[in-house]
Amino acid sequence: MHPKEGPSTRCVHYGRAVDPITHAMNTPIYENAAFAYEELGTWKEVALGRMAGDIYSRNSNPTVRAFNEKMAALEGAEAATDFSTGMAAINSTLFALLNPGQRAVTIKDAYGATYLHFKEILPRFGVHCEICETDDEEAILAAVGRGCELLYLESPTNPLLRVVDLEKLFAAAHRVGAVTVTDNTFATPINQHPLALGSDLVIHSATKFIGGHNDLTAGVVCGKAGLVKKIYRYRELTGPSLDPHRASLLLRSLKTLAIRVERQNKNALAVARFLQSNPKVLRVYYPGLETHTRHAVAKKQMPGGYGGVLSFEVEGGLEAVAAILPRLRYAYLAANLGQVDTVVGPPSTTSHVECTEEERRAAGIPEGLIRYSAGIEDTEDLVDDLNQALSAH
Ligand SMILES: Cc1ncc(COP(=O)(O)O)c(C=O)c1O
Repeated sequence: MHPKEGPSTRCVHYGRAVDPITHAMNTPIYENAAFAYEELGTWKEVALGRMAGDIYSRNSNPTVRAFNEKMAALEGAEAATDFSTGMAAINSTLFALLNPGQRAVTIKDAYGATYLHFKEILPRFGVHCEICETDDEEAILAAVGRGCELLYLESPTNPLLRVVDLEKLFAAAHRVGAVTVTDNTFATPINQHPLALGSDLVIHSATKFIGGHNDLTAGVVCGKAGLVKKIYRYRELTGPSLDPHRASLLLRSLKTLAIRVERQNKNALAVARFLQSNPKVLRVYYPGLETHTRHAVAKKQMPGGYGGVLSFEVEGGLEAVAAILPRLRYAYLAANLGQVDTVVGPPSTTSHVECTEEERRAAGIPEGLIRYSAGIEDTEDLVDDLNQALSAH
């Protein structure tokens, strides 16, 4: 990354790939299952990876490769590999890197399905998983200090926007020789660069801010070439790759990522400040607020902004949530985030839909919690809308 380049310039120009054959400015959609060769010699060279090219789209495809290259450039990574969903990226990373008998450490507030992967799936394959309290840094350091092969972190977390000190925890993990992984979905490459903070790998649910328009699901892993190669190998053998249509939509979306995220950062901060002053609201969770317990850490590791997602707790539990949400004029009630439209929902139907009520309680998620993903609408309209919805309650 060139230090002088601004985020929008990076989004427009990094990883750009004028089509070498047609000179098309935008990478064409190469809609092919297989690629044909005129003779066996070249085909074999490409198949063995000794010559550039593509054989079969489950393994590689030129449109999808352009997406990977742009993502790697934006994260400052050596390499990236694509997936059909964020969970496919997470699952493949964990299975590609962990073996029976090894230890992985993570935090309780990882995305619901990720948390259940560590709790239910990996232990069935003999991986010992230690799931630490997110806010208990000493406990995470102690778990890492006992030795582990992988440390998996998410910051800010979903849906309580907890923040962990990535640099400090990754330094500890590297001292015991562990691979470090960050889910950077909430922060985006505009706000936070985990690779510069000591993460070996960065994962995105590209369904969210990267795609940004609620028209696709996708995932991506960026990081050190050797590790990405291992993950690519697992993906090649198991099949959850991205298709060229979605890669093309993602390439288009990435050009506006910075301006979308900048507006979303601004909207989320304004909404958080408004909610903080509203008597119907018990608590606001947003790392950009000075009152957030780890605001200083967020300020240090999120130079671009604090992200487009916040959550808040209303008086009256789930009943109040059910009454307030349908009154919002400029918000969809849906299980998504990071899109250009504002989206709201309680954890029981969004981030923690896979968890039981007991598991949500154990994770410290209040029943009256609303996750709010700010879109790119005008700031005042969003604040006024929340004001009228809460006033009517
Ligand atoms: C932080 C985070 N990571 C991963 C995922 C999973 O991504 P996907 O739904 O694309 O599989 C989500 C989904 O909400 C998420 O919020």
